[in-house]
Amino acid sequence: MRLHPRIAGFLGQALSHEFLAVQQYLVQSRLCRLWGWQDWAESFARESREELEHAGLLSDQLLRMGIAPSAGALRPSRPGRDLREMLDQDVAIEWSAVELYAEALDFSQRMRDERTASLFAQLLEDEKGHLVHLQETISSLGTHHGH
Ligand SMILES: [Fe+2]
Ligand SMILES: [Fe+2]
Repeated sequence: MRLHPRIAGFLGQALSHEFLAVQQYLVQSRLCRLWGWQDWAESFARESREELEHAGLLSDQLLRMGIAPSAGALRPSRPGRDLREMLDQDVAIEWSAVELYAEALDFSQRMRDERTASLFAQLLEDEKGHLVHLQETISSLGTHHGH
């Protein structure tokens, strides 16, 4: 099938988003490690690896389409100065991922690009899962520490 330029645009935008998320979670993980919070460090490192896997899936799709994957210039990551700020920053990037993937899914379905649509559908589900997980984490902080 002919590649629609807007599909390629969504894939490129998605790849940038995923590398930004990899960077943000990685920095948060290393910060937590520096602060001696081993469990949080591991939890953020796990998220970073999941986002890296997403970047891999998007790269596969770009390569299948004959496009060299490139994330371009990344925005600076916003790790936050304490745990609550970190989690809030993560909610913000996960929301932007959900919005991006919902729009990309809708467009690729309308273009009848099923393979790309199923990739965007999978990523959309994963990012919604990340949001739910973050919201649960934030509300458990609230009950444990009375914030
Ligand atoms: Fe992701
Ligand atoms: Fe995510």
